[in-house]
Amino acid sequence: MKRFGLQWIGKSSSTKLAERSPQSSLQLSASSRVQDTKGELADNTHELIIGENLEALKVLRESEVRVDVIYIDPPYNTGKDFLYSDHAQPDLSEADYSDLTSKERSHCAWLSMMRSRLLVSHDLLEDRGSVWVSIDDHELAHLLLLMNEIFGEENHIATLITSLNPKGRQLGRFAVNHEYLLVFAKSLPHCDMKYATQEAVNPKDFRHQDDQGRFRYLPLRNSNKRFNPSTRPTLYYPLYVHPDTREVSADPQPEWIEVSPVFGSGEPAVWRWSKQKVSALGHTLEGSVINGRLGARWDVRQKDYNSEERTKKLKTVWRSDEVGSTDEAAREVKELGLALFETPKPTRLLKRILALTPPNAVVLDFFAGSGTTGEAIINQNLSDGGERRFILIQSSNPIDDERFAHISDITRERLALVSQRSPKAAPIRIWTLSPH
Ligand SMILES: C[S@@+](CC[C@H](N)C(=O)[O-])C[C@H]1O[C@@H](n2cnc3c(N)ncnc32)[C@H](O)[C@@H]1O
Repeated sequence: MKRFGLQWIGKSSSTKLAERSPQSSLQLSASSRVQDTKGELADNTHELIIGENLEALKVLRESEVRVDVIYIDPPYNTGKDFLYSDHAQPDLSEADYSDLTSKERSHCAWLSMMRSRLLVSHDLLEDRGSVWVSIDDHELAHLLLLMNEIFGEENHIATLITSLNPKGRQLGRFAVNHEYLLVFAKSLPHCDMKYATQEAVNPKDFRHQDDQGRFRYLPLRNSNKRFNPSTRPTLYYPLYVHPDTREVSADPQPEWIEVSPVFGSGEPAVWRWSKQKVSALGHTLEGSVINGRLGARWDVRQKDYNSEERTKKLKTVWRSDEVGSTDEAAREVKELGLALFETPKPTRLLKRILALTPPNAVVLDFFAGSGTTGEAIINQNLSDGGERRFILIQSSNPIDDERFAHISDITRERLALVSQRSPKAAPIRIWTLSPH
């Protein structure tokens, strides 16, 4: 028996379930309201597969299809019933559950449900690929261990906080205003992913302006004590500052003030730039007088200009003003006349994921719900000329609604409406699973 890892009743049968061949094949749906084209899964179409996702994933695994990005928003196992069942059903054929509490049983069932699907999706993911899973506190701890096991702890990129409910839910003890997004690579060294975006740059950080544009001041001195004349001798050299114009030169000039880098304590420090870089970019440097602990002294600062190409590393807390809120998500589906879908994600959350992953990615979402991932991809391709394609999978469970008989009818309707608005979008084909 493995001496480290997550164990539960049902784990081994979830592995067998993932390994077993599919019992179905994909059929192009005749009743599609969305534009259809004939043929096999192709390079230039989006796909919506209606049916049970484990079976659909296995059918994809047997095909040529491989994907670059997986985003999923699975049931969180909260025990609440939405339009779909949010908790996994225990597999009653499994050995003895009787000494487990109902909570333990529901964790077992949820883990088994997720494990078989994640195992198959791991097989579907390209080496450059990444997988993003939304989750909340109910299953975060289990899911992280499960994904460490399937994708490898060394491929864990981040556990992001997504603060999608700024007001906080008033029901519990604390007003919970966040959930999580687990991010794993298929293989970290091969992963094609960005960690910085232009959108993360705050123009307000560049408070100053001159004829070269907006800029902020950064000290040229390296403030990290580990970098000093002993550890970085080539970065320790004097600069020369004109006392009136404050111009900076790497070479001595008559009457200019010699300035060497020092820490606040007076100990010698080093510059961040080499002497060659100062010679080349000296026009973006400026002498300044600072009032330090030991009195006034000359220092040198860099005018760091903003530009359209500038990117900034994203932080691990994603706020609703950056990626949208659950209220915004509800408004988005309501505007399409689909108000009855209760737990959509905001398209801006997906937009950010899409901005970090390749613009020609094949994106798989096998808990598609209302189809947010599909809408975000159509819009993002339109705005940045990307050639992303989506494969969405959504079950066709019946729902109690006048307009829609099945939950997947909502997905279908949303995608139809969004693609009608974007005539240039690739056609969307709709597939169902039919038994062999
Ligand atoms: C939390 S919702 C996803 C919401 C989605 N991110 C959105 O923005 O609309 C999870 C969805 O997964 C679907 N689902 C659950 N189990 C499934 C299964 N075994 N196969 C296919 N779909 C499933 C549910 O019907 C539900 O619509």
